[in-house]
Amino acid sequence: MFSVIRSEEKSFRNLVNGEWKDSTSGRFIEIRSPLDDSIVGRVPAMTTGEVDEAMEAARNAQDAWRIKTVSERAEILNAAADLLIENQEEIANLLILEIGKDHKSARSEVVRTADFLRFTADSGKNITGESLPGDSFPGFKNNKISVVKREPLGVVLAISPFNYPVNLSVSKIAPALVAGNTVVLKPATQGSLSGLYLARLFQHAGIPDGVLNTVTGKGSEIGDYITTHKDVDFINFTGSTEIGRHISKITEMVPALMELGGKDAAIVLADADLEMTAGQIVAGAFSYSGQRCTAVKRIIVIDTVADKLVELLRNKILDLKVGNPLEHEALDVVPLISTKSADFVCGLIDDAKQKGAKLIAGGSRTGNLVEPTLFDYVTLDMRLAWEEPFGPVVPVIRVHDKDEAIKIANESEYGLQSSVFTNNINDAFYVADKLEVGTVQVNNKTERGPDHFPFLGVKASGMGTQGIKYSIESMTRPKATIININL
Ligand code: NAP
Ligand code: G3P
Repeated sequence: MFSVIRSEEKSFRNLVNGEWKDSTSGRFIEIRSPLDDSIVGRVPAMTTGEVDEAMEAARNAQDAWRIKTVSERAEILNAAADLLIENQEEIANLLILEIGKDHKSARSEVVRTADFLRFTADSGKNITGESLPGDSFPGFKNNKISVVKREPLGVVLAISPFNYPVNLSVSKIAPALVAGNTVVLKPATQGSLSGLYLARLFQHAGIPDGVLNTVTGKGSEIGDYITTHKDVDFINFTGSTEIGRHISKITEMVPALMELGGKDAAIVLADADLEMTAGQIVAGAFSYSGQRCTAVKRIIVIDTVADKLVELLRNKILDLKVGNPLEHEALDVVPLISTKSADFVCGLIDDAKQKGAKLIAGGSRTGNLVEPTLFDYVTLDMRLAWEEPFGPVVPVIRVHDKDEAIKIANESEYGLQSSVFTNNINDAFYVADKLEVGTVQVNNKTERGPDHFPFLGVKASGMGTQGIKYSIESMTRPKATIININL
């Protein structure tokens, strides 16, 4: 494939209609590593005219792609999966350099994505329709039958976030392609090298010209032009609630699937296994420095067991490995994606300190490396109780009973996932049934996988449902053909 070098001479190109193209703008965006500020590569800042070319390529390739058999489309996904595994070290190293991911998480993202591709290839072959008799409805005879099949929507615009630039691009691209759509991928700028590498893999896997195209450029500069483009039939977006809401406001009548922010609560009841609970919470809150939408972002605990839980959490947090992936292989907490992110996280920490929260662990930073931080006695007037850090800081909120826990959990603007830790199945379902979220984990950290499960956010956490078959359904529609038999 192509090796990743750190010099600014390494200019990447975009895939448009099967060709790798520079931008006529001559402008490039430098991608610098969050680990040492070195230049990992440069990507073109595309012009609106080049966006038009990418969209036109996708539009023109659609008919030929949709009439391929699903087996032919699935085979390309399987070939891409094989290429991901063949090149897993190189793309994992790129992830480490480009988004500062720790080695284990980087390798896991690549393997998980290959598994995603293969599962999607199989799921695509199970896309079915139905046939409906007319006489089951009053007033109709048995001379009508509706034959319903699923059809692709057309051109899918996939927009992915920085924290999973390979997996959360494929989670859009693969279901779209297997269903017969063509795709324009706009990767996160900090993650665009990985996104372009992925496009190269798909080309090597045999994707026809124009079926997958890429556009790079800062979302703040070219995002609105891309999302409101006349050739976009569906928007599959993962990112912040702020941007998701903005896209939703400016795009008229374009269907969308949005996975947005979160403030996932770990609710700990008095009978929970606290040792297991503490392990799950620490893993859920601090892996990849909490830069996950499904990270545990608040702990709501029954006060009678709070002291014990906090002690267990503190001990596990102090055991976390903190450092720079360029220097250490096995790490839990790594530098955040940007100084802006680290500043935001430290703003939440300072606010909690000033308003009287009790600092249990962490609380300081070196550059963009923020220590894993735990606050106890966090009250509802503190920003940390409500805002999404996207960083390694988590508040403990003490409550008297499960109803108070549910009330506070539901007062969040977000509704992605929650966990409930208890040994009482009745309490587990009591809490789960009342939580306004897409998913409740019982006795487990909040997490998206396995990737065939439905994954969705409600309220400010998104709209529509991901998860392999759900994504395929989202990017297809019914087509009804009614046979009228002359009796
Ligand atoms: P972000 O800043 O919202 O960016 C997400 C994507 O949107 C990037 O590709 C970005 O491009 C693009 N974008 C920015 N402005 C745009 C515009 N006006 N029109 C179209 N696209 C635009 O999010 P992020 O920093 O990458 O990721 C962190 C956030 O995403 C957190 O809130 C996290 O909770 C959320 N997230 C949610 C999930 C989930 O599954 N629910 C998963 C991961 C992340 P640029 O990079 O060029 O700005
Ligand atoms: O933020 C990415 C979101 O999709 C979480 O994925 O697998 O880390 O729970 P995961």
